[in-house]
This record gives sequence, structure tokens and C-alpha cells, in this order.
Amino acid sequence: MHIFKTKKELQKFLLSFTKEEKVGFVPTMGALHEGHLSIVEQSKKQCDITICSIFVNPTQFNNASDLDNYPNTLKADLEKLEQLACDIVYTPTIADLYKNGEKAKEFDFGTLTIGMEGEFRPGHFNGMATIVEKFFNIINPTKAFFGQKDLQQLQIVKALAKQMESDIQIIGIPTIREESGLAKSSRNELLSTSEKQEATLVYKCLKYCKNNQELAIPTLEKYIQEQFKNNTHFKLEYIDFVSLNTLLPITKWEAKNQNAICIAAYIEGVRLIDNIIL
Ligand code: PAF
Repeated sequence: MHIFKTKKELQKFLLSFTKEEKVGFVPTMGALHEGHLSIVEQSKKQCDITICSIFVNPTQFNNASDLDNYPNTLKADLEKLEQLACDIVYTPTIADLYKNGEKAKEFDFGTLTIGMEGEFRPGHFNGMATIVEKFFNIINPTKAFFGQKDLQQLQIVKALAKQMESDIQIIGIPTIREESGLAKSSRNELLSTSEKQEATLVYKCLKYCKNNQELAIPTLEKYIQEQFKNNTHFKLEYIDFVSLNTLLPITKWEAKNQNAICIAAYIEGVRLIDNIIL
């Protein structure tokens, strides 16, 4: 496994590959768990060379303490990637990617950024798109892989690739879950065993909607809000029923697989997000 700390070294190495070789790119912020690893595995299956980046991107944090507390598990991350035979890891410093004092670029993703994370994490998607655009320009992969757990991010990255007029294929990888249904996330490590058990409420609610799709959306929404109200450990931030393409709220189901239900909730101060596509 080759590890590069600068874009210059990485790009020089990439010149040794032919145009026919498919390059898969998996961007991460480290603290790798099984969800990330399944994305790397997919890239390995679909591409000839897999590059994983580990970079905690400062411009996408709307909360300074969230950035300060972001876990750094580089040694363990590299071991996990080595075990998967990931070909290249790019671990840049901030100075390799941002000019001194450089801020996030302003993007316009239309309706995609209005609600959900766009509303509750102002500036987050400009920061995320700023770094993803930089990565795409440095690596120019054939395919780039993103987890479906961050569904809004995935849809925005697809829009970004279009805006860049790039041929990069954006591939969404299904969420990996614990046996209990809880979506794998670096934040799960901050939960006790009993909190993890309680946190399964998020996926239970999403499954309830899947199993009761004959009910009207406002009825399902009310039911879920009640579930969270009845659980004093939880604070529901949002439950949104949206159209997958626009991410705008819906009150009636659209065609099959064109609807998404997205939840963000705090359990004992730990923010969890999850979603289901119906
Ligand atoms: O999903 C993430 O971990 C980040 O938003 C990403 C895509 C690596 C950009 O910093």
C-alpha cells in the first residue's frame, strides 16, 4: 500500500497508470468502521486501483468543538486499509489542500441544500463540496464512492460532478448496519451499550414507514414524532419525507424508490442520522 502526504507525490505516482486502468476513489475523514471498509471493498471490486483519502476537512465543520473532538485513529485506519489491500492512501495536511486563510467556495445546488443537514448545519455542504471538488481535480478518478447513509451528501456530490462537467461516476453504497439495525457510524463509539440499544429507535421508525407505506405521509410523520416524544433520551432534530431527486418535502408518495425518509436525532448529545429509500 502506497501512502502519500502531498498531492504532488500522489499525482506523480498516478502518472504511472494507463488511461484504461479504472481508478476508484473513496474519500473519508478517517475513524474508519465497517461502513467505510465496505465502500473500499466495492471500489476494489469495480476498479483496478483504489485510492482512499483520510482528511478531516476543516471547512465542512459548522461547529468548532466538533472539529476539535473529531477522532484521529490514523494508525488503526492504515492497518484496516492495508488488510483490505487498498492500493493508495492519501493523507494530506491542510496546507496541501488549502491556501493560507482559504475559505469554502460558495456553491449553488438548488433545492438539494435547502432542508435537513443544509438547514441544521449551515455552511457544511459548501465545505464538503469544496474539498470533494479539490479531490476530484487532483485524482480525476473513474468512479468515486460515497455511503448512502449521508444521502444528502451523495445527491449533492452527483450534482457537483455534473456542474464540473466531469465524467466521474458517483456510486452510492448501501448503509452497513449493526445486527440491531443501527447504522454503522464513527459516532456510535460515543454511545454506551444501553444507549446503542435505544438508538435502534431511529431505524425501527424507518422500517415502520417501509412496512406501512399504505398510510399517508402525514400520519407516518406524526407517528414517528410521537415515538421520539415518548423517549426522553432522544431529541428529534428532523424527520423529513422528501423526493429523492430534489430533496424537497413530499406529502404524497412518488414512484417506487424515488422517496426518501431522513432522520436526524440526538441521543444523550450524540447526533445520529439515518435514512431509507422507498
Ligand atoms: O463523508 C465524509 O466523510 C466527508 O464529508 C467527505 C466526503 C470525506 C468530505 O470531507
